[in-house]
Amino acid sequence: MPLINDNFLKLSDSYLFSDIARRVNAFTAENPGASLIRLGIGDVTRPLPEACIEAMHRAADDLSRQSTFHGYGPEQGYDFLIEAIIKNDFEPRGIKLSNHEIFINDGAKSDTGNIGDIFHHDNRIAVTDPIYPVYIDSNVMAGRAGILGTDGRWNGITYLPCNESNNFVPSLPSERPDIIYLCYPNNPTGTTLTKDELKQWVDYALANRSIIFFDAAYEAFICETNIPHSIYEIEGARRCAIEFRSFSKTAGFTGVRCGYTVIPDELTASASDGSPVQLNRLWLRRQCTKFNGTSYVTQRAAEAIYTPEGKAQVKANIDYYLENARIMREGLHAAGMTVYGGKNSPYLWLKTPDGLGSWQFFDILLKKHHIVGTPGVGFGPSGEGFLRLTAFGKRDDCIEAMRRIKATCHD
Ligand code: MLT
Repeated sequence: MPLINDNFLKLSDSYLFSDIARRVNAFTAENPGASLIRLGIGDVTRPLPEACIEAMHRAADDLSRQSTFHGYGPEQGYDFLIEAIIKNDFEPRGIKLSNHEIFINDGAKSDTGNIGDIFHHDNRIAVTDPIYPVYIDSNVMAGRAGILGTDGRWNGITYLPCNESNNFVPSLPSERPDIIYLCYPNNPTGTTLTKDELKQWVDYALANRSIIFFDAAYEAFICETNIPHSIYEIEGARRCAIEFRSFSKTAGFTGVRCGYTVIPDELTASASDGSPVQLNRLWLRRQCTKFNGTSYVTQRAAEAIYTPEGKAQVKANIDYYLENARIMREGLHAAGMTVYGGKNSPYLWLKTPDGLGSWQFFDILLKKHHIVGTPGVGFGPSGEGFLRLTAFGKRDDCIEAMRRIKATCHD
């Protein structure tokens, strides 16, 4: 009889957003007339930038002609996209990268979930809490998480609480982890780290020979100047960090699927005999075996983000969501609620009223006000007593949701 990977049995039956979708579907089946406002999963609502659509059409035409047809592409991605990324996302910030240090993928979720393939199962993981559930679940699957305690924490994982008392800035771990996951601007709290705060993490990682997995999927929402867009803005980060980027939220690619991972040449980890091994080389080997590249059409669409028209259209979309966030933040304040985030981020982290639990408040919003949020505790124990709202909705929906929430508070 074949054996399964028993670690999968340690996971809850469904992934957070699948669980929420199931509950919402059950509600809409029972209440077909309800006008539901979906501010749960961070899925965009604006159409793709026109520059990307035109590039996709042209790329489709390329595929229709013998002379410009493309079959398998390089597993790491086409140079035309990699060069546009380096020139636009990194060079203006004084960061130098070589083409082979960038790996194009089908979105940050895949690589943040898969990167553990090249690391030993015995590595100690540290995560900020609350956190994007993929980091935890993928480590449970790999056998790194240990056992889930009644407090909602895995005993093999170091939790770094982010809460009101530390202003959502995690403290450095008291015991050295091998790998540290940081996501800034943060999903789910919508909070950020300044350059000085991120520098402390880079210095810690260098001093302790830890590796930081830096998820910068939401960097396009940063408006303030002292907040780093890339961890490589911090000196020394090339020796201790992998960075994950995504076009999903930047350019509305949640359905198109494209992102990239940066693994600098200097970054090494130890083999069992203690010898240092370049992670870039290992990840390339992993990708060449398990990934056949992002489609040519998709990569052409991503390249178009960096044209002058593409940049203007992307900015218009980001500005639209940031304005949603402002409207929601102010609406929630006006309703007398406590809310964090939503300034350099599309996420608002709402404290539940009257000490309600996250799922209790989720149910009230869904059943009474027909608004879908994401219960904070779904992102980790420190998320209890909070609910995440996204600013990725349509403008009218955001305004209407604030009206309904305000009405709740004055019921
Ligand atoms: C979220 O809502 O946290 C994100 O949209 C999920 C994702 O990017 O996979």
